[in-house]
Amino acid sequence: ATNNGFVFCMNDYFVSFANTSRYVFTPDLPMYSSIVWSQHNPRCSNSTASQRPIAIVTPLNEDEIRVAIVCSREHGLQVRIRSGGHDYEGLSYICKTPFVVIDMRNLRSISIDIEHETAWVQSGATLGELYYSIAQKSRTHGFPAGVCPSVGVGGHFSGGGFGAMVRKYGLAADNVIDAYLIDANGNLLNREAMGEDLFWAIRGGGGASFGVIVSWKIKLVKVPPKVTVFSIYKTMDQHTTEVVHRWQHVAHTMKNELFIRVIIQYLQDDKNTSVQALFNSLFLGELNELIPLMNENFPQLGLKPSDCIEMSWIDSVLFFAGFQGKPAKVLLGNDTDLYVSYFKAKSDFVTKPIPKHVFKGIRERFLEQKLAFMIMDPYGGRMSEISESHLPFPHRKRNLYNVQYLVKWEANGVRASNEHIHWLRSLYRYMEPHVSRHPRSAYLNYRDLDLGTNREGDTSYSEARVWGEKYFKGNFKRLAQVKSRVDPDNFFRNEQSIPLHKSSI
Ligand code: FDA
Repeated sequence: ATNNGFVFCMNDYFVSFANTSRYVFTPDLPMYSSIVWSQHNPRCSNSTASQRPIAIVTPLNEDEIRVAIVCSREHGLQVRIRSGGHDYEGLSYICKTPFVVIDMRNLRSISIDIEHETAWVQSGATLGELYYSIAQKSRTHGFPAGVCPSVGVGGHFSGGGFGAMVRKYGLAADNVIDAYLIDANGNLLNREAMGEDLFWAIRGGGGASFGVIVSWKIKLVKVPPKVTVFSIYKTMDQHTTEVVHRWQHVAHTMKNELFIRVIIQYLQDDKNTSVQALFNSLFLGELNELIPLMNENFPQLGLKPSDCIEMSWIDSVLFFAGFQGKPAKVLLGNDTDLYVSYFKAKSDFVTKPIPKHVFKGIRERFLEQKLAFMIMDPYGGRMSEISESHLPFPHRKRNLYNVQYLVKWEANGVRASNEHIHWLRSLYRYMEPHVSRHPRSAYLNYRDLDLGTNREGDTSYSEARVWGEKYFKGNFKRLAQVKSRVDPDNFFRNEQSIPLHKSSI
């Protein structure tokens, strides 16, 4: 009945069913399944507690989003908003109570204005599409966001978003200068109309608590015509442990143009199994400048000119995405489906170098797990110049680097999931004494429901502080105050949405 009611409601607004059939998909329609489970982590959709949406709406314009919101409210349905569908816990497409998915796939236009160094990008575009569109217009502009091309702009910008230019230019959210959002009453608001508080909240506080963000105006950044990249693989022995240890001291202090991340992972070749550390770098400059810089600051890595490749910025995007040597058009395509897999991730921030012996323990744990990764992204540079409260994302000065622990698996089933998740949680417990404390911080875009969840129907601010302050520290209260002002009925909610701050209503 709810299903029919919702569809009738949509039709009432648009006069004939012919209109809505282009973009409203109910379970009886053949396209439904392929749309609902596209780009996702199957671990989440296999959960027995979750339901299938009663309808998926793929709006072609703002009016259709508005009506989907109004009709969902009228019929007591929750709404889940999906752009790229990469939410680590599937919150953009699963829900425990009857719900509708608003899927932004048809709203993905990108308009670049090189003269003013800005662009408007709709939330349904992917990062790959954005990077490609910029490169079509200029060899000397780019945008500082994540490294995976299939990630959606909608979730990524609203949760912060960082990649290989984080040290030079900060987060994607730091470079957003305007946005259009549709609120719980169906109003379309730009920056001026929504006010600075709400505009602050959607740049790092997660869009899904506040409304449907339709598009973003961003500031493009300058990149040199030639950049330099390298990847150095080292077996995780005593020497490499020394190098990683040294990396912790220097990676956040070097020139802002230099980004060197470390990925610890399991390796199996014909003869051996081992754990390796990959040093993966982007330098916004040429080789002849990079080598002396490395010799002076980080000689322990032993970087040689032959390890490095000079290329355009867009080619460096392909390099980081694992598409080196392929044409830039691959950033627009379905090759990015290779990122779909069963996985679970957790995150940390490191404020003091981790002792060497801990890396030995990490190595032993990684020998047990074939598809596990510990990705360490250095901060410092621009990230240290921005205050903790400038945006909801508070992890700025004093953070040496961010850590993402991620485990993937291929086999379906509860047993496989439990085994891998158990391994990940145990690694996370092992790391506790060595990472940020009070609170132990986490990154919203690496969403982790282990940190805590809201209770359906009765979300209290004080309970939610347990997980909210891990993501947002002191900014959590302001987020709850903004939420209370713009969505006092808590229409836009999920397991980790910002709760109401009752005394602010
Ligand atoms: P999805 O559509 O699932 O949305 C995520 C969240 O945002 C959900 O809560 C959703 O409801 C909400 N949302 C989405 N669109 C919205 C809209 N238009 N309005 C309001 N709310 C909206 N991160 C990073 O910082 N750097 C990186 O390099 C990477 N790399 C990376 C690789 C891979 C393979 C994955 C799976 C993920 C990453 N990430 C990342 C994490 C990524 O930034 C994070 O998962 C984003 O939230 C994904 O945004 P999507 O739009 O794709 O997801």
